Amino acid sequence: MSPSIQHVLQQAAARIATAERIVCLTGAGISAESGIATFRSAQSGLWTKYDPMQLASQEGFARNPSLVWRWYMQRLHQVEEARPNPGHLALARLETLAIQKSGQMSLITQNVDDLHERAGNHHVLHLHGQITHYRCNDCRRYYLLRLDDRQAEDPPWCATCGGQIRPDVVWFGEMLLEAVYRQAQQVVQECDLLLVVGTSGVVYPAAELPYIAQGNGACVIDVNPQDNAIGQIADIALRGTAGVILPKLLDNLLSTR
Ligand code: OAD
Repeated sequence: MSPSIQHVLQQAAARIATAERIVCLTGAGISAESGIATFRSAQSGLWTKYDPMQLASQEGFARNPSLVWRWYMQRLHQVEEARPNPGHLALARLETLAIQKSGQMSLITQNVDDLHERAGNHHVLHLHGQITHYRCNDCRRYYLLRLDDRQAEDPPWCATCGGQIRPDVVWFGEMLLEAVYRQAQQVVQECDLLLVVGTSGVVYPAAELPYIAQGNGACVIDVNPQDNAIGQIADIALRGTAGVILPKLLDNLLSTR
């Protein structure tokens, strides 16, 4: 690790050590080292290989429910097989430290996987829903996925209204769950440090959260191997992967105590 990165890590750790209200915002990059593909990376990004309007929109679901169902069942399997990586584990440890210090830390994720929860984070807001949850596309009633649904060619039907079952994730053209987004806005407005990890910062309204935090005087730290929209406004940019940078950040934080 170069001396300059070590210096930036120390700076970031010092800001975290003095923060009273820490919030984390994560995107697909945090799960990349667990083997879950991001959306926009040039080689392996899901949206560079697949058409999001076919697989993640109401129109696509109406046109070919079977294609959408099979795709989500494969992704669900991939998520279930994946394990939290050192980046997830470092954020869970950070939550423990923050709770000991000030009683709170919220984590807002755009990811539909459950790796933050499995790593040990307790207060996770899923802005874009969860691939482990299923509901009726019409009446929104929750549906408990059965073993044979996973092998089925088509989505199951809702026993209440006869609508089709879909993953409880936000598709293109759909609104975020208002209560979840309102809570995310509130914790970001109230935080004094926002740690942003592994997001391209191009999908709104999630992408506005770093601007809200900074507008309210919070320090914004960006962890990402590449510079991006958030890196441009961040007070501190840590260039590297989450699985490498976050454990080192935690080590630096622990050595400041
Ligand atoms: P993207 O695929 O747009 O961006 C992933 C970001 O992670 C990029 O900035 C990468 O440089 C960075 N990255 C890659 N590997 C990393 C690693 N190991 N450690 C840290 N960072 C890494 O994913 P998101 O920004 O999360 O929405 O995308 C936002 C939303 O767009 C998703 O939630 C999804 C998608 O359409 C819905 O499905 C509604």
